[in-house]
Amino acid sequence: MDVTLPNTDIPQAALFPNARITGTDLSPIQPSLVPPKVNFEIHDCTETDWCRPLASLDLVHAAVLLGSLPSYSKLIRNARRYLKPGEGWLECHEMMPEICCDDDTVPPSWPFRAWQSYLEEGSMRMESPKPLRVADKLATWMREAGYVDIHERIDRIPMNSWPKHPFLKSIGRLWEVNWLEGLAAFSYKLFGPEGLGWTQNEIEVFLIDVRKCIKDRNVHAYQKMYVVYGRRPSEEEEKAMMKKPSKSAGFKTSSAKAKSKG
Ligand SMILES: C[S@@+](CC[C@H](N)C(=O)[O-])C[C@H]1O[C@@H](n2cnc3c(N)ncnc32)[C@H](O)[C@@H]1O
Repeated sequence: MDVTLPNTDIPQAALFPNARITGTDLSPIQPSLVPPKVNFEIHDCTETDWCRPLASLDLVHAAVLLGSLPSYSKLIRNARRYLKPGEGWLECHEMMPEICCDDDTVPPSWPFRAWQSYLEEGSMRMESPKPLRVADKLATWMREAGYVDIHERIDRIPMNSWPKHPFLKSIGRLWEVNWLEGLAAFSYKLFGPEGLGWTQNEIEVFLIDVRKCIKDRNVHAYQKMYVVYGRRPSEEEEKAMMKKPSKSAGFKTSSAKAKSKG
């Protein structure tokens, strides 16, 4: 089994001990101690040439590339060329930046919501815009690129440990740490000279209020995480689709709901 994982981590190796796994990223962030059959390549996944045979991969897996790619749909189209016809799958995990809440506990001018809109504005002001809002379009892009058996699953990630449900509480606890540790790094490029043009001081002062929002358990905010996967059709399936283009165009969606009141 051949798997390529643009910018991914290594847990898949434990799940698929017989798979040859190649993790790719622009930067050399990978650990040096990795399971057997895992290797890493420095590679730009926006390149059309992935330096491997076409139609050779069982799985292409991409995660958290929002804000990294000028065109996610191009990645989806290109990945299809490298998947084995009939049996190769593409799986994408992406979150929507938007803050959601089901019980009106998010105040009208919540600084975290402002942060998220500034971030999107900053990303579109860059010389080469890289959209953050990709997750809810993945299934459509897969369909347009000619994938079949497309599934979309939407999970809710609480902002912090506000839910009563123990599993969601633990996810929220991790998500809070993710936000608090990453906030400055997520902000600087897009708020700085290349994006919104804010000074370091302006950014840091604003982030004080954003951090308070992230830690506030009285606000029942969450974000949506999309897991979308689809299969490259076989040649026979493709021929049949050409003759009868209709039902294969649809996709299945499911949503694992978090109860906002816990
Ligand atoms: C937010 S991290 C996600 C890392 C990992 N997939 C995860 O889920 O934890 C985004 C990663 O994408 C990488 N990246 C950004 N643009 C890329 C590109 N064009 N080709 C390959 N990797 C890229 C960055 O270097 C960074 O490591």
